[in-house]
Amino acid sequence: MHENTSEITDIILNAKERAIKETSREPEPELTKPINWPVECVVGPGLEGAIACETRIGYVNGSKGWLIYRGYNIFDLCAYATFEEVSYLLMYGYLPSNTQLAAFKKKLVEYRSTHQTKRLLMSFPIEKMKPMAALRLGTNLMRQEFTDVDSDNYLSNVVRIIAADEDSIPMETKPRGEEHAIYEFKRQQREHMIKEDLKHATGFESCFHLLSGVASLTGAIARLRCGKMPVEHDPDLSFAGNLIFTMTGKKPTAIEERIMDVSLILHADHGMNASTFAAMVVASTLSDVYLSVGAGIAALQGPLHGGANERVIEMLQEIGNEENVPAWFEKKHVKKEKIMGFGHRVYKSYDPRALVLGPLAKYMTKENKESKRLYKIAKALEKEVVKTLGAQKRIFPNVDFYSGIVYSSMGIEADFFTPLFAVSRVAGWTARVQEYLRNNRIFRPRAMYVGPYDKEFTFIENRGRNIKT
Ligand code: SDX
Repeated sequence: MHENTSEITDIILNAKERAIKETSREPEPELTKPINWPVECVVGPGLEGAIACETRIGYVNGSKGWLIYRGYNIFDLCAYATFEEVSYLLMYGYLPSNTQLAAFKKKLVEYRSTHQTKRLLMSFPIEKMKPMAALRLGTNLMRQEFTDVDSDNYLSNVVRIIAADEDSIPMETKPRGEEHAIYEFKRQQREHMIKEDLKHATGFESCFHLLSGVASLTGAIARLRCGKMPVEHDPDLSFAGNLIFTMTGKKPTAIEERIMDVSLILHADHGMNASTFAAMVVASTLSDVYLSVGAGIAALQGPLHGGANERVIEMLQEIGNEENVPAWFEKKHVKKEKIMGFGHRVYKSYDPRALVLGPLAKYMTKENKESKRLYKIAKALEKEVVKTLGAQKRIFPNVDFYSGIVYSSMGIEADFFTPLFAVSRVAGWTARVQEYLRNNRIFRPRAMYVGPYDKEFTFIENRGRNIKT
């Protein structure tokens, strides 16, 4: 596996060695074990430290800089597995055999064909929408395509969905501005078994529909935003390869496909982060996994979370060149402003994902002048920040610091960096939703009331005069 991109494997294994060396002085952590509820934990603002549930899906250790999916460390998964294998691992708890992987890939290919959803999406002014807003809309529209979870009567048997005539709509057959041609969406009668769980929009089928569909919609949205028609995915390309192809209209090189695959693995899951928690809160009310993923996309958009990767590029552009870094940083530091792409609620050492994405960014920028310029500024900024904030407050680069440079060197626009994060994190969101639903309890934390208890009612005619706040 990965023979033709062995230099990428070497980069990953070097990062693994660096991670082990840099945290070797940290004490071995006391490994976490099953919980006997109720449990005592010290909780800070923003539920910092609160234990929401037990999980076997992923583990993050901030002092050792460990990121583990179902027992496997992230470096080995990036070096030897693919995103399809890792998605399967997160969902089922074990790495798939060849047969299981082939069946899983076939399912993902089937679920990429979200033609009806794309047609619905194209009736909205996508070119005027933030990509993450368009993706959230698309996820909800997907929910209508295969599920009848809102309809009164569930279809209890096989339903034949025949590709309607509007499937063959005037489309560019090739993404190079060719004359519009009639593009047949592989006119075939698609017979969808509406399985029990797909119909109820809460089971594994819906999760795989989302994993594949969100990627497919991201490609369509990227094309629509630049006034082009969506391109159909290429069955010969991997999940990662099709993501690049359907977004840019260009077939990726083997190296680009591999680096995208590694980045998707790195972003797939990360403990109880804000967007995963948001997805799980929605699921805990027995809503459905489409709306859970929609909530995850909404939370991920924020610049304190997944939206930081886009702002890192804006920040590097603002700095302009390496020479400006010290003065720029000093100004921010004095005002205690947050530097995008740095710091983390959990990691108090290098984010292992940044240890991989940094060298990959360097590798990718060899051929790309603009990315090379940004990379040099990033390296200079990393040095400044680690020298001060790293030493004082253990603030280091996080996953968002280099990911944007990797993506922009593939020709991907900055406002699609967070959608790419979302495409990958659908694997973690859905796996954790499925795991939590097996032992569900609606999330309902407390808010400590600190207001008054005994106010006398004031009628409206007496209000407005010397009101007590
Ligand atoms: C992701 O949770 C996850 O796992 C998220 C994620 C995932 O995979 O799901 O890893 C993905 O969201 C990565 C983070 C992307 N966001 C950014 O890069 C935005 C910049 N980072 C910060 O906003 C911040 O570091 C957070 C939000 C990531 C974490 O914030 P915390 O844990 O709430 O830390 P804090 O705000 O309490 O800060 C603690 C101290 C403060 O200084 P003091 O008031 O104690 O003097 O550290 C300082 C902060 O000012 N600090 C920073 C800083 N981050 C924290 N100072 C400068 N630059 C920063 N980036």
